[in-house]
Amino acid sequence: MSLLTDLPAWKALWDHFDEAKDVHMRDLFATDPGRAERYSLEVDGLFLDYSKNRLGDETLTRLMALAREVGLPAKIKAMFKGEKLNTTENRAALHIALRNRTNAPIRVDGVDVMPQVNSVLERMTRFAHAVRSGEWLGYTNQPITDIVSIGIGGSDLGPLMVCSALKPYGHPRLNMHFVSNVDGAQLKETLKRVHSETTLFVVESKTFTTQETLTNAITAREWFLARSLDEKAVAKHFVAVSTNKRAVADFGIDPANMFEFWDWVGGRYSLWSAIGLPIMLYLGEENFTELLNGAHSMDQHFRNAPLEANMPVLLAMIGVWYINFYGGGSHVIAPYDQYLHRLPAFIQQLDMESNGKQVMLDGNPVDFETAPIIWGETGINGQHAFFQLLHQGTHISPIDLIASLENRSSLPGHHEILLANVFAQAEAFMRGKTADEVRAELAEQGLSGDALETLVPHKVFGGNRPTNTLLMSRLDPRNLGSLIALYEHKIFVQGVIWHINSFDQWGVELGKQLAKTIHAELTGKLKDAQHDSSTARLIQLYRQANGRG
Ligand code: F6P
Repeated sequence: MSLLTDLPAWKALWDHFDEAKDVHMRDLFATDPGRAERYSLEVDGLFLDYSKNRLGDETLTRLMALAREVGLPAKIKAMFKGEKLNTTENRAALHIALRNRTNAPIRVDGVDVMPQVNSVLERMTRFAHAVRSGEWLGYTNQPITDIVSIGIGGSDLGPLMVCSALKPYGHPRLNMHFVSNVDGAQLKETLKRVHSETTLFVVESKTFTTQETLTNAITAREWFLARSLDEKAVAKHFVAVSTNKRAVADFGIDPANMFEFWDWVGGRYSLWSAIGLPIMLYLGEENFTELLNGAHSMDQHFRNAPLEANMPVLLAMIGVWYINFYGGGSHVIAPYDQYLHRLPAFIQQLDMESNGKQVMLDGNPVDFETAPIIWGETGINGQHAFFQLLHQGTHISPIDLIASLENRSSLPGHHEILLANVFAQAEAFMRGKTADEVRAELAEQGLSGDALETLVPHKVFGGNRPTNTLLMSRLDPRNLGSLIALYEHKIFVQGVIWHINSFDQWGVELGKQLAKTIHAELTGKLKDAQHDSSTARLIQLYRQANGRG
C-alpha cells in the first residue's frame, strides 16, 4: 500500500485539484496585482519568479502540508547529519559536507569527515597552483597547456558543465577537453589537438571500473607512451580521481597522483569533490572556493528557511503539482546563455538518475509518477526549434527559463535582445492569445470572412503554460554554485515526497552486464550466448560486417 496516496494532504490536494485545474493564470494575474511580488523569492544572487504557475495560495498551502506530512523537515535534517539515506548501498549522501564552509563536524559512522575533505581540498589546491603557475612541468620541462578530463556521467558532466559555464574565468594558458564517449572519435579528435609534452590527463572515475573511462584512459596512455617513450613520464601527465585506490594502482597511476573522494559522494553530486579537479585547474582555487561558497549558501538557505520561503522546496513542490496532479511528465531546462549550454544535460542526469525510480524505499512499487523527463537546450535556440510544441502542442511541460541580469557581453545590443526574449516567452506561455485577440489582429491586417476564420484556430495560443523564471545577478562561480545546489535540493525534496531513494542508480546496471557478454561475442571470445532473435541477429550482422562470420 502506498504511503503517499493514503496521506490526508495528498487527498486534500486532489480535492483542490478538481476546482483549481482549469483556472487560467491570466485571470489569476488580473485579480491579484500583488501576485508577482508574493510569488517570488531572492536567495543571494538568485531571483526566482514562480508567479507564472497554475497555482494560488490554497495550492501552495496544501503542497506545503504534504511536505510536512511526509516528514520533509526531518529528512532535511537527516541529510545534513550524514544519516545513511542511500539505503540500498548503506551510504550517506553528503555532498553538502564537500562545501561545508563552516567546517562544523559532520559525522559518518561516528567519524568527522571534514578533516579528510579539507585535506583533499588542500592537495587539489597545491596541485592546481603548480599546474596553473607553470611550476608543474611535463617530461620535456614545458608547462601544461591542455587538460584532458576522461570520465563519464557524474565524473564528466559536472566539470564539463562548470568549465563551459565559467569559461571567462578560465586560465588563459589552459585548454580544457572532456572525453566521455567510448566511440573512439571523441578521443581521437581530442588527441589531434594536443601535444604529449604539454598535456595533463585527469582520469575521473568514482569506481575506477567504468569500461568507457578505462578504455579511453588506456588508449590515452598508449598514445602518450608512443610519444614520450618513457614509462616514468606517465607520472607527470596522468592523475586520477577516484574512491578506489587499488584499481587506480592496478591501472598504473601512482596513488601519490590520485585525488581521493568517498563512497558518500554520489557520482552526479561529485563536482564539489576531487572530481572537480579539472574545474580547479581551469578556474583556480579562489573561483572553486566561490563555487563551494555559493553552494554552501544555498545549503544554509535550504536547511533553515521555512518551507514556504524555501527556494528548493518551492521548486520541488510546484514540480510535484504538475507531475502528480496534472500528469506533466516532462520538464524543460532552458538557459538563456550559451555558456550554460551543458546545464540541461547536467540536470538531466542529476534528476533522472536520482529520481527515475519505480519502487519506494520499502521496495513496494510506486502508484504515482516520479521523475519527469528532463530535456532542454539554450532557450534562444529552443525557441526556433521545439518551443512550437511547448506553446501549441498537446503536452504541458513546465519550463525553467534561466538567465543572468548583468550584461557581460561586450557586444552592444545582444543582452537586451536575449532578455527581451526570456521575458516575452514567459509572458506568452502564461497569457497565450485568445481567439478574439487573433481575430482583431487579423482584421487589422485586412482579413475578413472565411479567410479570417480559417486562420483563427491555428493562431490561438491557449497560454496557461507554466514557467519559472530564474535570474542570476550574473553568471559567476558563486551564483553557479547556488544554482546547482538549488537543483540538487529540489531533486532531494521530490525524492522525499515520493519516498524513493534518490541516491542509488541500479537502473544503469543491466545494460552494462549484457554489454559484457555481447562484447565478448563481437570480439569472437564467446560463441552461442543465449539471446532473443533480434539481438542475436544484430550481433551476427556486426560480425559479418567485420569479417567475423
Ligand atoms: O552508469 C552510470 C554511472 O554509474 C553514473 O552513476 C556515474 O556518474 C557514471 O556511471 C560514472 O561512474 P564512475 O565515476 O564510477 O566511472
